[in-house]
Amino acid sequence: MRFNNLQTKKNNINLSNELDKERIPEHIAIIMDGNGRWATKKGLPRSFGHNKGVSVLKEIIKASKNIDCKVLTVYAFSTENWIRPSKEVDFLINLFEKVLKKEISEIHQESIKIKFIGDLSPLPNSLKLLIKSSEALTNNNKKFTLNICVNYGGRQEIVKAAKEIAIKSSSGKIKPSDIDEQLFNSELLTNGSKDPELLIRTSGEKRISNFLLWQLAYSEIYITDVLWPDFTEIEFLKAIIDYQSRNRRFGGIESLSNESFEDSYYSSLSKND
Ligand code: FPP
Repeated sequence: MRFNNLQTKKNNINLSNELDKERIPEHIAIIMDGNGRWATKKGLPRSFGHNKGVSVLKEIIKASKNIDCKVLTVYAFSTENWIRPSKEVDFLINLFEKVLKKEISEIHQESIKIKFIGDLSPLPNSLKLLIKSSEALTNNNKKFTLNICVNYGGRQEIVKAAKEIAIKSSSGKIKPSDIDEQLFNSELLTNGSKDPELLIRTSGEKRISNFLLWQLAYSEIYITDVLWPDFTEIEFLKAIIDYQSRNRRFGGIESLSNESFEDSYYSSLSKND
């Protein structure tokens, strides 16, 4: 099934024939990169890029809901971002609080469930309380989930899960033989939720920067040179169309057009053994 009238207003590009409604990724992860460069290029302080980044995030949440994608997980602040100048770190932390305060009632009205993922312990108490109340308020919302990764690091998440499992094992709650992918997954901060089918990274950097190391094992990766503050609904749809053109094999192979040829080769091998 195809979207019939999906027209983006801005330059009237009609992507309707290209987007396959049956193959919309249910969960998309985004590394929102390039805020600082965007601002610097315009001769503005880096914080202007972060402010613009918030309005882009709002546009992309809307776009995700429009096409019936169910979960968006965004990288807002990594465990490594603390090494930035303290004024920028403070600005970002204040920005999270300001935006959450301003937007939470609309987020709730839109039936969006909001979840923060990461080690929240070093955040100011006022932000921690706001996060707690926002998560509680929106916990039963069903339409859409927004995961915001703050003070998040994939390696730290894996080490934490390993520690939890070691504690459970040494106290006899589980046996070493109980440890499998499913159990490990359930100890991650993402709590066993469905892995992203698609990772989008803006600003052209070709790395995953300690983001969702376990969860991205089989995700398709889409990298665009567009800086996050310039990212639009059109760019987002282009990423999904590109994803839909991929052949996801999960370690398998494409279906064989010449199966008998392959079979006869393997039989000839066994005859020669
Ligand atoms: C990366 O660009 C961006 C960040 C570290 C911050 C992302 C935060 C937002 C978009 C705001 C989100 C707000 C909420 C409430 C979730 P960069 O600063 O590393 O850019 P650069 O690589 O060009 O320096």
